[in-house]
Amino acid sequence: MTRSTQDIDREIVPRKGLDFHLREDDIPKYWFANDPFKTRFVDAMSLLFPEGEKFFIQCVRDYKDQVTDPKLLEEIRDFTFQEGQHSMVHIEFNNRVARQGVAVPEIMAYQKKFMAAIRRRLPKQYTLGMTAAAEHMTALMAHYFLGNPETFDDADERIRAIYFWHAIEEIEHKAVAFDVFQKVAKGGYFVRSLAMLHLTVDFPFHTFMIMRHMLKVDGFSREERLKLWLNGLVWLYGPNGIYGKMLVHYLRWYKPGYHPWDAGETAAFQRWRDAYARQHGDAIAATNDFMKARA
Ligand SMILES: [Fe+2]
Ligand SMILES: [Fe+2]
Repeated sequence: MTRSTQDIDREIVPRKGLDFHLREDDIPKYWFANDPFKTRFVDAMSLLFPEGEKFFIQCVRDYKDQVTDPKLLEEIRDFTFQEGQHSMVHIEFNNRVARQGVAVPEIMAYQKKFMAAIRRRLPKQYTLGMTAAAEHMTALMAHYFLGNPETFDDADERIRAIYFWHAIEEIEHKAVAFDVFQKVAKGGYFVRSLAMLHLTVDFPFHTFMIMRHMLKVDGFSREERLKLWLNGLVWLYGPNGIYGKMLVHYLRWYKPGYHPWDAGETAAFQRWRDAYARQHGDAIAATNDFMKARA
């Protein structure tokens, strides 16, 4: 039976000590269906996570002293813990990408400067609105991955597990920045809509710029890159593309009165958490179980 988002267990679980076996050297370079575009698309996002997640934590913390609700305070603590864990794992993964010749330190340094400039120049309520909007983006991708696991059928089980674990935690804490934005920073509809429009341009722009660099470093010729981009953009934006399938969820943001727990499939979310408990905290085994057991 499909659960409604209302009766789902929304506990934010601070999971510790996860091991994705990233030191193993048999992880293929193109770990996602042996496809350079798909792999580098996700790898580019991985490069954005550490600085992005640091930005999210800072923007929520800007208002922490004004939070009086003990439940929201606890959620902020758990959200901060989860984002910190994500950054650690993505940094370890990004070190692998650096060994493939990608200019990871330079990209990270640029991201750090870029995020610092945004925090310096824009109002705190707006940057928190950007954080809430970014959390909507990660949550809608997370719901999509869990609801469409076949997307990851041909992905390396270790890297795939990183994204399923990350997806689960993004869903668990998807409303934290939003609640601080609305209840504490008193952010309204206009600011959150503007922040989302801003991010809708910014996020793909940065992802694609990093991918452009990666595919050059990977040694593909101009013609090969053109072909990769054309096929890849169809995979993303085409009639059956993954972004098309996320569009309705994305647009829910612009509905006045929207709250993150109003949208998103949650049966698969609970199935992965059950598999994780069954596998005693082994995220790789849990994800493999989840993939096998799907209808
Ligand atoms: Fe995260
Ligand atoms: Fe998050």
